[in-house]
Order: sequence, then structure tokens, then C-alpha cells
Amino acid sequence: MKNKKNITYNNKKLKVLVTGGAGFIGSCLVRKLLKETEVKVFNLDKLSYSSDHTSIDSLIKDLNLKKSNRYELLKIDLVSYCKTNEIIEYTDPDLIFHLAAESHVDRSIDNPKNFVENNILGTLNLLESVKKHFQKLSTLRKDSFRLINISTDEVFGSLGSNGFFNEESQYNPKSPYSASKASCDHLVNAWFHTFGVPIITTNCSNNFGPWQFPEKLIPLTILKAINNEPIPIYGNGKNIRDWLFVEDHINALLKLSLKGEIGEKYCIGGFKEKTNLEIVESICSILDKLKPRDTSYKNLIKFVADRPGHDFRYAVDSKKISKDISWEIETEFLDSLNRTVDWYVKNQKWCDQTLQKANYYGERIGLS
Ligand code: NAD
Ligand code: TYD
Repeated sequence: MKNKKNITYNNKKLKVLVTGGAGFIGSCLVRKLLKETEVKVFNLDKLSYSSDHTSIDSLIKDLNLKKSNRYELLKIDLVSYCKTNEIIEYTDPDLIFHLAAESHVDRSIDNPKNFVENNILGTLNLLESVKKHFQKLSTLRKDSFRLINISTDEVFGSLGSNGFFNEESQYNPKSPYSASKASCDHLVNAWFHTFGVPIITTNCSNNFGPWQFPEKLIPLTILKAINNEPIPIYGNGKNIRDWLFVEDHINALLKLSLKGEIGEKYCIGGFKEKTNLEIVESICSILDKLKPRDTSYKNLIKFVADRPGHDFRYAVDSKKISKDISWEIETEFLDSLNRTVDWYVKNQKWCDQTLQKANYYGERIGLS
């Protein structure tokens, strides 16, 4: 992949920094960069409950990358300005993908301060460090430097039964998580306009796929079902999310880093709206075939108390990114869902270890 400024991922000298690269989406990006490009990858992550490094470790082993110096994991918390600044100087990046964030809405309801600190203060510290770094770059490197800010469609609030979010949508976040992400978008935008830091912001819909920490709806449903436990659906199950396979999201981010316009934002969605009940029932149907038992897994569905302030519907119109940089969804939704269910069935040991490591059981309300 090449852009008009002649940046290419087939360049051993290109230094790419991924924040949150041990999380679900970030690790997928890191794996793709290691597998399909020649760039040097720095993974900055504080390594929290939702982090996992085993997928990257095993890829490094498979690709025999240990001695190649192509990858470095940096255990850093963006909440510390000094450490963040030090690491930006040390890594001297050409390109940054900023994914580090506390990401689970329910946790933001339990502990909003954690989201303000990690997401808002973390982003501020990154921006201040990047501003200094950018100002010192040569004209040539300045020209191609980009910070890609990975945000969410949740910053736009909740839709009724009709319409879509797009790049013109008003910010109207309703949960502490989405309010913290909206704040990050505003900060990033301000650092572009005021200090000239070349940024691109993306607002993406709900991702799914292998290696996602099993507290989000899809992996949680799969695990509850195979462990023969009640599958909790909040409220009446009619809330709607727009689902995108994580690898399609990564393709969009890589393409945008080369072809996106600085200062612009891009909405990324799956055009795959489903009610929560539909998603849970689809997973149960897949499991009924994959791992049959006496009665359907659907019998495990349990409607539980609704999430406070539960957004009704998200749906993203991704026409702009399709038109401007020819991004297209390459996977088929049901194939990807089948693949994801199959992955969790085959990787229960990973799930148990991940949940144990995160001291998950009993910690979150209603799910122990
Ligand atoms: P995740 O929780 O799986 O991973 C987040 C990672 O960020 C973790 O490894 C965590 O340790 C790290 N992190 C958090 N705070 C940090 C800090 N202060 N310093 C350093 N590292 C820190 O989340 P995810 O699902 O991979 O989401 C990644 C990004 O994409 C987030 O910014 C999220 O808002 C955004 N996003 C997610 C989705 C989705 O459906 N998962 C959709 C749209 C946008
Ligand atoms: P989630 O995976 O937490 O993502 P988000 O809140 O960022 O969209 O939830 C997806 C949808 O599923 C959301 O409408 C809340 C609902 N949900 C349940 O019904 N039960 C659950 O146990 C969870 C975790 C979520």
C-alpha cells in the first residue's frame, strides 16, 4: 500500500506506534502489521484487565521475529505525562494509532473517574507529547506524520428507529464511556486546529471477533452458553447495534493512515444492524449445530434489569470512507460470527485464564 506522499508499509524504517496494542482491536492491528508489513511496531499499553499478549507472542514465535528487532512492547500508562513523553521521544514514531482506552460501558457506570483519567487525561498527555515530537520532525517526516484517533459511534448518542450516524452528526454522548471518548475527539480536534498536529479521527460501530475480552455481548453470550449459565439480555433485548468484524475495521484504519485527509473524520460501520436478542439467538443457533445438547441454547436466555441510560440504537453510514478511500467490508457477517463462535469454543482455556487473570468473576454486577 502506498499513498501520494510515498509512504509505504513495505519500509523497514517506518516506525509505527500503537497505543492500546494489547487490547482486542489494537492487538489485531499489531498482528496485521507484523504479519503483512515490514515496519517497526511499538506497542504502548498499560496492560490492564482487558489486555492480552498471547496472540502477539505466538505470532512472534511463528514468524520467528524475536531477534529481528521489529517489535517492542512498552508497558506504559498514558496517565503519566513524564513516561508518555519519554516513550514518544524514545520511539520517535512516523505514525501513531491511538486505541488505548477504558472501553466497557458497564464499567464506566460503575467507575466513571477511571474513564475520565485513562481516556481524557491519557489522550491529553499523548497529544502534548506528540505535539513536541511533531514540532521537531524534519519537513519530509512532518509531511507524512499522522495520528489516527480511534473513536466510537457512541459519541453521537442514541438513534431512534430511523436514520444513521455520519460525519455531520452532532456529538451527544450519554454514558460516561461515550462522554470520555467524545472529550478525546474534541481534544484531538483542538490539537489539530491549534497546534497543527496532523490527525484523523474515526468513529466506528461495535466490533466483534476472536480475542475480545469476554465481558462484551458476543463473547459473553458464547461463554455463558457453553458453560450452561443464564445469558443476560438487558431490558427487552430490542436495543440495536451495528456490528463490524474487527479485521474489516483494521483494514479501514490502515487505508486511512495512507489515504485519509488530515483533520477529517470518518465513520466506519458494518451496515449490519441487529437487535441484541437477534444476535444472542444467532449465536445460540450456531452453537446448537456446533455443540448440540438436549435443548436449544436459547433456553438459557434471561432478560435482566436494563443498563442505566441504555442507548437504543446505533447505525453508521460509512459512505464517506467507501467513496473517499475505497474501503469496503470484505467479510460476510454470518461467516465471521460463525468463525468467532468457533474460536471461543476452541479457546475456552484462554477465556478461563483471561478471566481469572482479570479477577473477573464476582467483580461485575449480575454476571458472576
Ligand atoms: P480493549 O479494552 O480491549 O483494549 C484497550 C487497551 O487499552 C487495553 O489493552 C488497555 O490496557 C489499554 N489502555 C487503557 N487505558 C490505558 C492507558 N491509560 N495507558 C495505556 N494503555 C491503556 O478495547 P478495544 O475494544 O480494543 O477498543 C480499542 C479502542 O477502540 C478504544 O479506544 C475504543 O474506544 C475504540 N472502539 C472500540 C469499539 C469496540 O466495539 N470494541 C468500537 C469502536 C471504537
Ligand atoms: P456491549 O458489548 O457492552 O457494547 P456497547 O455497550 O458498547 O454497545 O453491549 C452491546 C449491547 O448488548 C448493548 O446494547 C448492551 C447489551 N448487553 C446485554 O444485553 N447483555 C450483556 O450482558 C451485555 C454485556 C451487553
